[in-house]
Amino acid sequence: MSSEPALAVLASGSGSILEALLGERLPVAFVLTDRPCRALEIAAAHGIEAVLVERTSFGPGFDRAGYTDQVLAALADRGVGTVAMAGFMTVFGPAMFAALPGRVLNTHPSLLPAFPGAHAVRDALAYGVKVTGCTVHVATVEVDHGPILAQEPVRVFPDDTEATLHERIKAVERVLYPSVLREFLS
Ligand code: GRF
Repeated sequence: MSSEPALAVLASGSGSILEALLGERLPVAFVLTDRPCRALEIAAAHGIEAVLVERTSFGPGFDRAGYTDQVLAALADRGVGTVAMAGFMTVFGPAMFAALPGRVLNTHPSLLPAFPGAHAVRDALAYGVKVTGCTVHVATVEVDHGPILAQEPVRVFPDDTEATLHERIKAVERVLYPSVLREFLS
């Protein structure tokens, strides 16, 4: 058993990026989600501890600081030293970045600083760009604005829908994120 600080992956969706990290044998020790989602099943199938900290239980006005504190407690309990957000759809309060400065990473489906936010693929299509892509960056309190670690371009095809374009971007993310994380951890 390693005494290295553990790597946690945070997800909200289909978990295909998590699956890619596991496929590339990244040492994922803990998975946390903010809603019931397939990422929990993927963790279970790999024998990795997973917890659901459901954002809907933090009130209609969303208690962001309270949510952040609960996630931080779960991470601290498992000795987590690096967090990889992989499609995690809840924005943390400042306490997250104070507790793990420079140790929270994110993958985003656009070439930042273009198209930050939750609808990056839709926004890129609507703008009419011919090339978009993905960005792996250090997450900071300002959403999608942290230091960029790596980027890859993806061509936009004339008949692309949000779904087809996002799937091509995710195929690139599934290669880029594991390699950046591996280097980050080494
Ligand atoms: C990725 O495109 C990620 O950049 C975005 O959400 C997607 C996650 O995909 N924030 P999945 O749930 O891992 O399939």
